Amino acid sequence: MNKFHYLIFSVLIIVSGCTSTTKQSISSPDGKVNLDLNLNASGELYYSVSYKDKKYISLISPSALGFEIKNQEKLQAGLIITEIKTTENNETWNQPWGQFKTVKNHYRQLVCEAEEKTNLKRRIRVIFRVFNDGIAFRYELPIQKSLTKYAITKELSGFALSPDNDTWWAMADYNTQEQLFQKTKQKEAHWVNTPITMKTKEGIYMSIHEAALINYPAMTLKQDSSGIAVYHTDLVPWADGECVKVNDSLQTPWRVITISDHPGGLIESNILLNLNAPSKIENSSWIKPLKYIGIWWGMHLGTHTWNEGARHMANTENALRYIDFAKKHHIDGVVIEGWNKGWDKWGKDSAFDQVTSASDFNLKQVAEYARQNGVTLIGHHETGGDIPCYEQTMEKAFALCKQYGIHAVKTGYAGGIRPAGEHHFGQYMVNHYQKAIETAARYDLMMDVHETVKPTGLCRTWPNLMTGEGVRGMEWEAWSDGNKPSHTALLPFTRGLAGPMDYTPGIFDLLYKNRKTYVKWNGQEKQGMQVRVHSTLAHQLGLFVVLYSPMQMAADLIENYEGHPAFQFIEQTSVNYDETKVLDAAIGEYIVTARRTGNNWVIGALSNETARTINISLNFLDKRTKYEMIIFRDADNTHWETSPDTYSIDTKTVEASASHRIQMAAGGGQAILLKPIDK
Ligand code: NOJ
Ligand code: CA
Repeated sequence: MNKFHYLIFSVLIIVSGCTSTTKQSISSPDGKVNLDLNLNASGELYYSVSYKDKKYISLISPSALGFEIKNQEKLQAGLIITEIKTTENNETWNQPWGQFKTVKNHYRQLVCEAEEKTNLKRRIRVIFRVFNDGIAFRYELPIQKSLTKYAITKELSGFALSPDNDTWWAMADYNTQEQLFQKTKQKEAHWVNTPITMKTKEGIYMSIHEAALINYPAMTLKQDSSGIAVYHTDLVPWADGECVKVNDSLQTPWRVITISDHPGGLIESNILLNLNAPSKIENSSWIKPLKYIGIWWGMHLGTHTWNEGARHMANTENALRYIDFAKKHHIDGVVIEGWNKGWDKWGKDSAFDQVTSASDFNLKQVAEYARQNGVTLIGHHETGGDIPCYEQTMEKAFALCKQYGIHAVKTGYAGGIRPAGEHHFGQYMVNHYQKAIETAARYDLMMDVHETVKPTGLCRTWPNLMTGEGVRGMEWEAWSDGNKPSHTALLPFTRGLAGPMDYTPGIFDLLYKNRKTYVKWNGQEKQGMQVRVHSTLAHQLGLFVVLYSPMQMAADLIENYEGHPAFQFIEQTSVNYDETKVLDAAIGEYIVTARRTGNNWVIGALSNETARTINISLNFLDKRTKYEMIIFRDADNTHWETSPDTYSIDTKTVEASASHRIQMAAGGGQAILLKPIDK
């Protein structure tokens, strides 16, 4: 690891027995982001955040800190500050994969140690970090007499926002992030999942989320009665109503506010990764980003089943066919769902068996064939949410993968959690997901996790955590009203800010014209339900670049790809990048993203329901090089509603001095390959 690290200064202020109001301030290295910490006359800590442009813009008004602890007084008031320490850190580090090869981690830190003056005399430490692209804080509660084994019933961290911010948000839910987003004024967003994204009236963009979610429940944000648009941290509870069960010293996740003066700055920020610990996997040579196809979409369409029987898709013959296609078209991996026993019992206790193959599926033969052909087989473990059952099998199931040379597994938690009453995003489940990631690392397994908790940058520490769902992805287009074109123009600025997304793009048969016989299921049978994909074909290609995932699926049936000229974009695009630039964007309306791998660039663009033309400069290209530019675009008559699958492929030669007009249909998009022309 190429690591350069220094501490610029370190100031230690010991404040003993201080009871009066105290104010501490700290700014980002570029001086634009400012954090103030105040101790008021009641001995309560408050923080606030501002942004210095031409003048100071308030982003977060004074907001509370502290905890409610079961059977104890609130840990909030009556505090004195015993020590303040400020330091600066500046380092760069390299990622094994990502949107950027090299990441800069430069921040100023303020550590505040405080103690209650009387009663329990509990001690609390709050650590603040201020970066050029945001601020973060976390708590530490050391082991002490009155805090040994206890339960937190509420985290009091507040976020007092301007009621007039524009905000893009999804309703809070303790079990799912598979939601549509809405745009309202801040005051109307009462209870939200994170990330939540905002724009102040001065044009500053912010996103609130968390980093390093370990042994703690996920947070939602809830407005309370203390003021309009004032949120507190609402933690996902255990079945018994407690939020955090603590048996040791406590270190919370970071509460993070990403800040930028332009929307693309939120996407280009690495603040969440920087707030996570360095990799714990010493030899990561088996971790490789990959494009994949799979035995998958047929089940969602209803033409096939996961269950064994006449329509069972995961049979040996189909698996070999998918491997052949992958090899022929330079696709790295194949996922096979429905390969195992138990699907007919979905919803019952101990239904899924992640070690026994379906009767018509020969795991040994398929795994050997994949290995001989250089194709990565991706295992699939649906758990149905039955944790005791999966935890019993997990070790054996991962060992089976290793035995057959399988290096990737997709997991799923579709259904209510067992033990009953636990939530997908509570501490119990956060600990389970962590156990799965760490166990998988021991078996050299990359993970693609569905229906788990939102990402919080943990992939820095565990780079085998490649991608995850936690998003209303393509599957919803198969059996529901689906996802409006604006959904994907919004996702990069909401859920996408949390981390990689397994959205599963790339459907070419947008109107399901090639779907012959199928059995309606999961909502397709609803009166008047007309399912389809809500975009143009060029938009589907644009998704490959715009929605970042180091395991990126080409989700359609291979029959719809075979011989299709547009498939060459999927064949040729990379899913691992040295550099990423958002060239232009308006949240929920359109986005143009450029990504570099070595000397090649790819560009993806998406529009919502409105047709539009965006001019981009190509000045990010190497000035001394000529490039072949292959453009996959909407045709002149394309419209997502009426003619979604018309498209054109153009080729031209360009240089850095050129500009390019990206013309997008309603619900449209564009995808571009840029390759240096050898001299
Ligand atoms: C939901 C997942 O998101 C999807 O990808 C998978 O096919 C089904 N569950 C079945 O496991
Ligand atoms: Ca799902």
